[in-house]
Amino acid sequence: MFEKLETLPPDPILGLATAFREDPSPAKVDLSVGVYRNRSGLTPLMEAVLSAERDLIAQQSTKSYLPPAGAPAFREEIFRLVLGDAAAGLRARSAVIQAPGGCGALRLGAELVHRASPGATVLLGDPTWPNHGPLLTGGGLTLARHPYYDASRHTVDLQPMLDALERTPAGTLVLLQASCHNPTGADPDEAQWRAILEVVARRSLVPFFDIAYQGLGDDLDRDAFAIREATRHVPEVIVAVSCSKSFGLYRERTGALLVVGDDAAHARAIESQANKAARAMYSMPPGHGALIAERILGDATLAATWRKELAGMAARLRSLREAFVAAVHAARPDVDIGWLARQRGMFSLLGLPAEAVRELRERHHVYMGLDSRVNIAGLSEDNVGRVAELVAPHLQ
Ligand SMILES: Cc1ncc(COP(=O)(O)O)c(C=O)c1O
Repeated sequence: MFEKLETLPPDPILGLATAFREDPSPAKVDLSVGVYRNRSGLTPLMEAVLSAERDLIAQQSTKSYLPPAGAPAFREEIFRLVLGDAAAGLRARSAVIQAPGGCGALRLGAELVHRASPGATVLLGDPTWPNHGPLLTGGGLTLARHPYYDASRHTVDLQPMLDALERTPAGTLVLLQASCHNPTGADPDEAQWRAILEVVARRSLVPFFDIAYQGLGDDLDRDAFAIREATRHVPEVIVAVSCSKSFGLYRERTGALLVVGDDAAHARAIESQANKAARAMYSMPPGHGALIAERILGDATLAATWRKELAGMAARLRSLREAFVAAVHAARPDVDIGWLARQRGMFSLLGLPAEAVRELRERHHVYMGLDSRVNIAGLSEDNVGRVAELVAPHLQ
């Protein structure tokens, strides 16, 4: 059966992770893998998570299955976290299904859409996170692209994006990253979001939001602005939520699919179909991460601890961005990369040629994506100066 299967080349990002692990140099710096790191280069367990996990382990009495749609309190808490003030008014016409991470939620969303509109088209920004394509086509959707990033100005390429949306047939989905865009770090500001959503609403397009970094950009509310604004103008909104980065729950595979429908009857239909789609893929979602997140969000003290830790992580990302900009400026006063401090989240594209990316890795042990995507959290207060000096000669 398997004799015709060819061995695939290693995933480029995971391949870099292996090369990094095997690099014996003490000077090595990993800017490639997309996880948050603290000053010591560790992906920390958040205090609030550790505390909730201890309580959970002390109090749990079973490992029996969760209900198919997931842990009930987690579903309510995550809906409120993402929708904020808008949540109460929308809950009756919304479906909330726990999913295995943001990837699981994206795939489940695609499967759900495919049940309603087989082979529907989803527009992805150019560029976007490379896993969006496989996750959404895997669920039966068809891909198309819209411009997103102006690489010369390092900003959202707004007008070409709006023009592309204007030409898009009604009923098409548009995948929108709510904040901390991966891989560019360039997010629309509030006025730009309003302009995008105005076209989405007028052209009867369906926004499919991916929110994987809530709280790691500006704050929990501003990072969800686009989603909340969309629910005020568009009848149907799909949201894939990931708790991997914002709670540091990566391996616990914690996330949710939220769908705001036209009315309560639609929401019931959506939820039942999503449950059926989930049943055909993995039956029931994993419990541990969701039960931790629900404890944190449902407890005022733990929630305050978590918010503070998350705000600290976001502030650290912003200050590393500023430190990198300043260090580059010191090395190359002729180059202004102030745009990097205006971008948000963990990622930015440095805009380096492929040879420079290779040289940085092979000669200087600085690892980044082949497209020169860097994870800002891979920098630290200790290495930012050295990395900036190595990168500076290659910047345009
Ligand atoms: C833009 C984006 N969406 C979704 C995800 C999914 O995250 P997970 O499946 O680990 O929760 C990621 C993870 O890197 C991401 O960068």
